[in-house]
Amino acid sequence: MKVWGLCFIGFGNVGQGLARILVREEENLFSHFGFRFKTIAVVTKSKGSRVDPNGLSLSKLLDEINHDQTLGPCTITPEETVCLPEVDIVIDVTPTNLKSGEPGLSVTKKALQRGRHVVTSNKGPASLALKDLLKIASEHKSKYRFEGTVLSGTPAINLARESMAGCHITEVQGIVNGTTNYILTRMEEGLEYDDALKEAQALGYAEANPEGDVDGWDAAVKVQIIASVFMGKYISLKDISRVGISGLKRKDIEKALSQNERIKLVAKIVQNSGQIFASVAPVSLPFSHPLSGVNGATNAITLTTDNLKDVTIIGPGAGREETGQALLSDIISIVTH
Ligand code: HSE
Repeated sequence: MKVWGLCFIGFGNVGQGLARILVREEENLFSHFGFRFKTIAVVTKSKGSRVDPNGLSLSKLLDEINHDQTLGPCTITPEETVCLPEVDIVIDVTPTNLKSGEPGLSVTKKALQRGRHVVTSNKGPASLALKDLLKIASEHKSKYRFEGTVLSGTPAINLARESMAGCHITEVQGIVNGTTNYILTRMEEGLEYDDALKEAQALGYAEANPEGDVDGWDAAVKVQIIASVFMGKYISLKDISRVGISGLKRKDIEKALSQNERIKLVAKIVQNSGQIFASVAPVSLPFSHPLSGVNGATNAITLTTDNLKDVTIIGPGAGREETGQALLSDIISIVTH
């Protein structure tokens, strides 16, 4: 029986969320999918690293991290770690860096080139190099799976790629950032912007640098990934018109409410005559609009298609275990195919 070697690169909110699910579901994963795993390495930038080809205890690692202990000195680089012979699947949960994609991009490339599979929620490499990474993966018979980059664990990427294969998607509209939607909801409930943002950070929704969320970058990257996967159009971030929510005041939100409307950060991608028009912007939506009732860290997207007309996906858009679930579904897909 194959025992799959896992390697975590990064071990923040999402990595720990996945680790918790793996600890809790270990026996179920074996009985349902025949999936047995060993954690070969956990490599972090700020909390040290640990490697053991015989397997590490994830519950012990979680316990140590929760008690602010470091895992040990880094004696091996992330690139060296992913090349260890015992590693089969690399979990890139390093923070999103939209400028360089690093450190996730180099590690991902190296892993795929060495025939390791990569599962990730890291939007940097997918934003900057999706086409390349898929090509490298196919050349080396490895898989690059990134369900967690859009709508956290709510199925979107794999649903569109696999279950809706053959369907032409001409338009996608929705709420794709959990942090900003949570902030807007809490501001409607009376909180100040800064306090609402702090809550979103404490709940593990926000990016390591929350400017990525509030200035609309995170939503724009998701638009970019959606355009490539759902519509086969690789667009650059600068092609997306982007406005965030950091300029919004409580009075703007109260004014919208007084007019029976809610302000939402709406992402929109329209394909027309082969051209893509993409935007992220706060929009005041009447209470009767389906997106108006999507609150908290919940996300929703409506896909306009030829064969199915409109398909709407709604569910958690951020969170530790919610995004961990996306990584788990990608791991299971690799293991069972
Ligand atoms: N910071 C992101 C969000 C995490 O709030 O949507 C999930 O991609």
